[in-house]
Amino acid sequence: MLLKIGKSISAHIPLVGRVVNDARSVSRMTNVEFQDAVVEKTEGWLNRFTSLRTMDILDFQHDNGIGGPLMEIGVFCGKYFSLLARSAQRNGDKLLGIDTFQWRDEKHVLKMLSLSDETLKADVTLWHRHSSACSTEDILSQLGGKARFISIDGSHECDDVFLDLQLCENLVAHNGIIAADDFLNPLTLGVNEAIHKFFAVPRLVVPVAYISNKLFLAHRASAAQYKEMLEAAILADEVEPQAKNFRAQLAKGRHFVEQPLWGQKVVVA
Ligand SMILES: C[S@@+](CC[C@H](N)C(=O)[O-])C[C@H]1O[C@@H](n2cnc3c(N)ncnc32)[C@H](O)[C@@H]1O
Repeated sequence: MLLKIGKSISAHIPLVGRVVNDARSVSRMTNVEFQDAVVEKTEGWLNRFTSLRTMDILDFQHDNGIGGPLMEIGVFCGKYFSLLARSAQRNGDKLLGIDTFQWRDEKHVLKMLSLSDETLKADVTLWHRHSSACSTEDILSQLGGKARFISIDGSHECDDVFLDLQLCENLVAHNGIIAADDFLNPLTLGVNEAIHKFFAVPRLVVPVAYISNKLFLAHRASAAQYKEMLEAAILADEVEPQAKNFRAQLAKGRHFVEQPLWGQKVVVA
């Protein structure tokens, strides 16, 4: 199948300051505008470059007719969740957020989402519970099917993260992708331990890219397409310093931007 990887990615830089028309919203900000107006204003943890590349993934799904629900374990105030809510609203898909909500409550998240026209009407459900209390069946029933995008950003304890990975492997669609936060973060060694344990045996998902704190795991069926589109998105970004650095590293040799990990070649930016 021929997949479109240029449309939204190349639009990322040249369209700054321009309003893009979309079927579900009369006017839609560019990704950079959404980043500056919404994401940067929301409390939480998210690297700007990783956020922009996540929007590229969500645009890629939109452009290629990859629909379906989205979910996140570990919402906090909704910083990363806002990206998923924007995509859910654009496509008319369901979004589920699971969090213990011990630091900020659900009302706070909904208030943050209400601040943007592009997330205000998203079909969002928030579950106030520990992820280990959620069964695959309960989540599938809530979502109405397997998810096209999942973010794992809850507990940092090895056992919890391992269970989250197992849960999400069963929830991700064959054309979907998982973002696992805090990989290679020395302050969250439990996350690293869990991800290594998870990949000690063959999995339905494989790593495709590591972009500042997040390891992206795509279903085997579509890993090559996600890897290709992410590299194209990085190369198309003429503004962010991390993209410039990627190009400089690539010019020195492919091994500076691609590393083997659990039998897969992973793009590193
Ligand atoms: C690092 S923060 C999430 C950051 C957020 N994704 C963002 O974009 O800023 C982790 C969140 O996960 C919650 N949490 C921790 N362990 C959890 C678990 N096992 N299940 C659900 N939520 C959990 C915490 O209360 C906290 O709100």
